[in-house]
Amino acid sequence: MNPSERGEGKGPPEGRLAYLGTLAGGLAHEVKNPLSTMLINLGLLREDLQAAPENPERILKRVGILEREVKRLDQLVQSFLRLARGFDLAPKPTDVNGLLRELVEFVEPEARRQGVAIRCSFEESLPSLRLDRGLLRQAILNLLVNARQAMPKGGDLLLRTSLDGASAVVEVTDTGAGMSPEVLARCFDAYFSTKKGGTGLGLSMARRIVEEHGGSIEVWSEVNRGTRFAVRLPVHGGSPPSP
Ligand SMILES: Nc1ncnc2c1ncn2[C@@H]1O[C@H](COP(=O)(O)OP(=O)(O)O)[C@@H](O)[C@H]1O
Ligand SMILES: [Mg+2]
Repeated sequence: MNPSERGEGKGPPEGRLAYLGTLAGGLAHEVKNPLSTMLINLGLLREDLQAAPENPERILKRVGILEREVKRLDQLVQSFLRLARGFDLAPKPTDVNGLLRELVEFVEPEARRQGVAIRCSFEESLPSLRLDRGLLRQAILNLLVNARQAMPKGGDLLLRTSLDGASAVVEVTDTGAGMSPEVLARCFDAYFSTKKGGTGLGLSMARRIVEEHGGSIEVWSEVNRGTRFAVRLPVHGGSPPSP
């Protein structure tokens, strides 16, 4: 991939208040759609109850839509709080290759259905790292899901681990749609999504989790060629010892 098309994960903006402001603005914007859907469906539900209370089918359909939108709102608020407050890490010695093997098993059936072949190349001498296993799992899963979604007509997904000085590196490479320079520049922004129904929170969450572990994420991408994310995690220290 062309190194000039390489974008780098930026840390949270200098000013914490500015960052919170951007985040809150994004939340307010994202909340509008589900709220208006709920309002419309509540109006229709009222009409159905007045006009045809004996027809539970229609009424249940409206309730189903309301439930879906309430869940979406709940997820939006929870993700917002996690990004705004940060995480309470519970770091424990973790076998990263083992965690990745579990994740591959988890995503493989769906990938196979889509014609995506997953290949693994693990550095077996990787030492165990002090990590919050559940959160790191979430971060890497977000990268794997994006990679699969970038290959709707199939392709290759390569998952690789390596040691680079004092860092363990986890790379997720796909042969999918890739990103234009404009998308690449914004892909880590909270609520930025090019997908229908996308939350735009997967990468901002992944970056936040990795940075709280003292690591970093880099990305390289080229349209119609593919994308590579590299997660670097410190082998020693990085996360404070638990009290
Ligand atoms: N592997 C990838 N290949 C191509 N584009 C990607 C990839 N990963 C992320 N992107 C781009 O970055 C955007 C933000 O990703 P993300 O934060 O996970 O949100 P979402 O997946 O909900 O859109 C995506 O909408 C997509 O445009
Ligand atoms: Mg995503």
